[in-house]
Amino acid sequence: MIVTIDGVAASGKSSVASGVARALHVPYLSSGLLYRAATWAALQHGLPLDTPEAEGPLLDLLHAQTQAGTPLDLRPLPEGNQVWQAGRDISEALHTAEVDAHVSAAAVLPGLREWVNAQLRALTPPFLAEGRDMGSTVFPHADHKFYLHASARVRAERRVKERAQDVDSVEAALKLRDERDVRQSAPAPDAIHIDTGSGTLPEIIAQVLAHLPAPS
Ligand code: C5P
Repeated sequence: MIVTIDGVAASGKSSVASGVARALHVPYLSSGLLYRAATWAALQHGLPLDTPEAEGPLLDLLHAQTQAGTPLDLRPLPEGNQVWQAGRDISEALHTAEVDAHVSAAAVLPGLREWVNAQLRALTPPFLAEGRDMGSTVFPHADHKFYLHASARVRAERRVKERAQDVDSVEAALKLRDERDVRQSAPAPDAIHIDTGSGTLPEIIAQVLAHLPAPS
């Protein structure tokens, strides 16, 4: 079984996805973390990301890391996804403001999208895949698809609680990311839409689970 959960930035995707995956007893895969990891690797090596020419050097870097036996390695653990490289857990470095600011530019590079998609498709179901285009592009034949959405204001208010920033600037940054991500974020036509703008996390998880068969 494959379940996909897509949605806009800060819509609660990863919290909902991990709760649903735990209830179903399947691993969840965060595709965003792979985009973040590639962005982090590029920043570490001083590679620019904001031009179409960025693609070649970035793919060369990812390929060279694989050849050297030190690939970016997504580990879908029950307590959350981690990315390891060269024997080191780099997950914490993937949620910095610097990675946030560059990841959408990297994510429009078609070669990087193919690289991420190939990593995900190499995994054996059952699993729950979370991201932007899991139901529309990567796993169009998934058994169950969900799309989470909420207004930019509600999402900004939630982020502010997590990170102690002011709501107007967080809302503006989220809207900018929405605009940059719009191309890959179109919902699959057969996705079930869930509004995460109100309701607690357990209520939203229950709403998703109500559409899914009980775990065996
Ligand atoms: O999910 P998260 O916010 O961590 O994703 C980070 C970024 O990765 C998104 O803003 C988007 O640019 C990109 N992304 C994507 N396609 C996906 C998952 C994430 O383009 N399936």
